[in-house]
Amino acid sequence: MSKRVLVFGSYVTDLSSRIQSFPKPGQTVKGREFRLGPGGKGSNQAVAANRAGADVTFVTKLGDDLLGNQTLDFYGKEGLDTQNILIEKGGQTGSALIMVDESTAQNRIVVVGGACEQVTDQDVEKISGLLDQTDIFLTQLETNIEPVYKLLETAKKKGLLTVLNPAPAQVIDKEYMKSVDIIIPNETEAEFLTGVTVVDYDTAKQAAQALFDQGVKGVVITLGKRGAYAAYQGEEKLVSAVDCGSAVDTTGAGDAFIGGMVAALADGKGFFDAVNYGSVTAGIAVTRKGTAPAMPYKQEISRYYQI
Ligand code: RIB
Ligand code: NA
Repeated sequence: MSKRVLVFGSYVTDLSSRIQSFPKPGQTVKGREFRLGPGGKGSNQAVAANRAGADVTFVTKLGDDLLGNQTLDFYGKEGLDTQNILIEKGGQTGSALIMVDESTAQNRIVVVGGACEQVTDQDVEKISGLLDQTDIFLTQLETNIEPVYKLLETAKKKGLLTVLNPAPAQVIDKEYMKSVDIIIPNETEAEFLTGVTVVDYDTAKQAAQALFDQGVKGVVITLGKRGAYAAYQGEEKLVSAVDCGSAVDTTGAGDAFIGGMVAALADGKGFFDAVNYGSVTAGIAVTRKGTAPAMPYKQEISRYYQI
């Protein structure tokens, strides 16, 4: 039977424009194709895992404002279990200003967490109760950090598999790294956590070693176009990126990877097979505009996923 996944993390509404080149300080550039849609790393990863076939419960905190209400409509259509979403009375739903460079498909993002950075101890207690019906706990660093620490610790104590995407990069209290089973940073986040600049296989390996020294059991460093470096139980692999068409928007590619990988783990696949599955999920997501709406469904992933 498929394992149950609980994702705790951010929801923010993405306000995204496509531009020809990033503006310099004081400069105004004309953009194209303004898009407003669901984003936030926690939500994107939950949507990706859910579409990839996992049994997912998502918990975040929204404001009781226009963006928050729109979001609940979106989740209703997704069929994602969001019954436990928290609402901050008078709070503001988070937002992200995103610029996507049309020629490179790269992005720059400013995220304001709003309500999802106001998760309280009382909220954490409620969420902890849900961990009893959960097998895999997935989280990131886009909410306030205290709930992340507490939930990782509780999940570990309860014997769950814990997965952390340390994004956006920030200092993590070493004490809590012991509660992380699998850590999935990108190159920048890996460098931030280890001091090792990740440029190739050897440096990825060094960074992974530093993360193992901090107490984690599995490491996946996503490397964009170059795929991902993965290490687990003395085995390591460079998994190449999967070409599923040309990239139009890489925003949320990491989230697609992580959601896909976690869905595969929930389905009982082994660590490296799950990495491959995540790689295909990201490969498809970058061929589509937007973040959560770009996440592929299980049937689409199956077309490319082969072992
Ligand atoms: O990882 C991509 C996400 O980061 C975007 O959806 C944006 O909301 C930012 O939080
Ligand atoms: Na995309």
